[in-house]
Amino acid sequence: MNTYTETLQYLQSRIKNAPQVGIILGSGLGDLANQIQSPTVIPYAQIPNFCTSTAIGHKGNLIFGTLGGKSVVAMQGRFHYYEGYTMQQVTFPVRIMKLLGVQTLFVSNAAGAVNPQFRVGDLMVITDHINLQPNPLIGPNDDQFGVRFLDMTTTYSKRIRAIAIQQAQEMGLTLKQGVYLANTGPCYETPAEYKYYATIGADATGMSTIPEVIVAHHCGLEIFGMSVITNQANELSDNHLNDGDEVVAVANKASQHLTTLFARIIQQVDINQ
Ligand code: HPA
Repeated sequence: MNTYTETLQYLQSRIKNAPQVGIILGSGLGDLANQIQSPTVIPYAQIPNFCTSTAIGHKGNLIFGTLGGKSVVAMQGRFHYYEGYTMQQVTFPVRIMKLLGVQTLFVSNAAGAVNPQFRVGDLMVITDHINLQPNPLIGPNDDQFGVRFLDMTTTYSKRIRAIAIQQAQEMGLTLKQGVYLANTGPCYETPAEYKYYATIGADATGMSTIPEVIVAHHCGLEIFGMSVITNQANELSDNHLNDGDEVVAVANKASQHLTTLFARIIQQVDINQ
């Protein structure tokens, strides 16, 4: 039995309904999981072939249930390349979601603002990305999931972005939109690196999300991504340093808006399109 089958069979034995929507919750954003109705909570440690989440602000549960009237599976905490996992380990849950029946993936993260217009606490809809991490599809292509040479020109769903903007308007929320850049971490950037990211077209930066997005796009999932701006890279000075705990605290504060917005979008979105 291969690892996918083993994990799939275990999870299917624990759940009642196949999920239609997958959600990956970033640093400090795990609260959304508490909104999931009739939850089945499965700690990663119990799931065959899953890693455990070692990052701060990441809980480490897979949660099945209902949100916005749809059957969902949420990762409360994700795996990062900087934790020492391989890209295959980091992205394994995405392929499991696909095999479980997920068609649409919602991803979230905490990110530093590179765009000088962005403020701490802003929510940014991800329109595109710049990948400065190793590509998770390096290695033999697994044809059961997707093609060898993947078109990345339409990675982030336009129609879900439009729904997000409309729902945010109804909530009285202004959303930023922009390009997310991921580097490996675990160091935050030097001032020169932040400047470089702005020069090459990034609006916000973090250490996650892109591996999962690439693997999700490879296997045909529709993707919506959102960053919570936790620090302003453009305002770094000798007395303003980046700090992991502060990042988690800001993300926690913003998570209520993100939670409400995700639930509203999931409610509105027609999954079978
Ligand atoms: N850089 C990288 N990752 C981050 C940042 C940042 O400024 N803020 C939150 N995650």
